[in-house]
Amino acid sequence: MLRNQKLDPKICTDDFKNRLVVISGATSGIGLITAKKYAFHGADILSINRDVEKSKELCEALSNQYNVKCTYLIADYTRLDEVHQVAKQLSELDKKIDVLIHNAGVYYTNRTFTENNLEIVFQTNYLSSFILNYYLKDKFIAQKSGRIIFVNSEAHRFAVWGLNLDDLSWDKQQYSGLKSYAAAKTAQLLSMIKLNEYFFETGVTVNAMHPGNVKTNSGQNNGALYKLFKKTFVDRTARPQEISAQALYYLGVSSELDNTSGKFFNLTTEEDPAPPALDKQAAEELWALSLDLGGLK
Ligand SMILES: NC(=O)c1ccc[n+]([C@@H]2O[C@H](COP(=O)([O-])OP(=O)(O)OC[C@H]3O[C@@H](n4cnc5c(N)ncnc54)[C@H](OP(=O)(O)O)[C@@H]3O)[C@@H](O)[C@H]2O)c1
Repeated sequence: MLRNQKLDPKICTDDFKNRLVVISGATSGIGLITAKKYAFHGADILSINRDVEKSKELCEALSNQYNVKCTYLIADYTRLDEVHQVAKQLSELDKKIDVLIHNAGVYYTNRTFTENNLEIVFQTNYLSSFILNYYLKDKFIAQKSGRIIFVNSEAHRFAVWGLNLDDLSWDKQQYSGLKSYAAAKTAQLLSMIKLNEYFFETGVTVNAMHPGNVKTNSGQNNGALYKLFKKTFVDRTARPQEISAQALYYLGVSSELDNTSGKFFNLTTEEDPAPPALDKQAAEELWALSLDLGGLK
């Protein structure tokens, strides 16, 4: 894993003209540069963002610069009603979704709850993408093709004891930013196990990736101490954002991955996820719980 941190991603230069890429959190950081990369190769972009002004700016920039269609839907992932609305709209889209990238994510050093009474990192980084996948899974099956990619993290490895399904609110365990982030990313990998089974031999693939350590706005919602820590230790070793976009383009477009599903990549190098992210029993239990928490029953 450590050796892979320094590798460069494989590059795909294939054209993706008039194909549709749906990406969440395209208004900043990795999502923004990835949307630009796909647009550069001719893809139309439909982004799911929480901010209207930033979304307008994004679409103006992409359509002017790359002459592609750019549209957006607004959903704050801390509000499940908005996520349901967008998921429903996407499931009714009369156009094929070629690539769906779940990128939106947050890091919170303090335990915080949403208005749905769920821990914010779990809801934003995991449950919202679960709801979208749940609504979209039949559309993907009907399409007989399509790639779903989770922007996950090597940090999932910090959930060394796995996901505590009895304490997703961190009442019994001591909360930390790293632990909640690792738990949410582990949840995403567990959901990939079930989705991969669901899509078996349908032509649809689902994979997850670590986008490298790149300098973005991630964590800027936290206090001064964390921001100083990030600037001093994390950002100092950060690599260019371009590597994340290159990797996400390769994973979404390269024909080398036509039949690859259920895998975790560090950029474009396949790795085994941590054992708790491979726990099939936990994946079953989490799926059932997510239907409940996500209001999908
Ligand atoms: N940067 C890294 O080194 C790194 C490493 C491993 C994994 N990742 C993962 O990469 C992904 C992208 O993060 P980033 O580093 O590019 O951070 P970023 O610059 O903060 O971008 C995060 C994106 O998510 C959106 N977002 C945040 N909260 C949201 C909410 N409640 N509802 C809807 N959208 C929301 C943000 O929207 P606004 O523009 O409105 O804020 C932004 O577009 C995340 O999943 C993160 O966990 C990053």
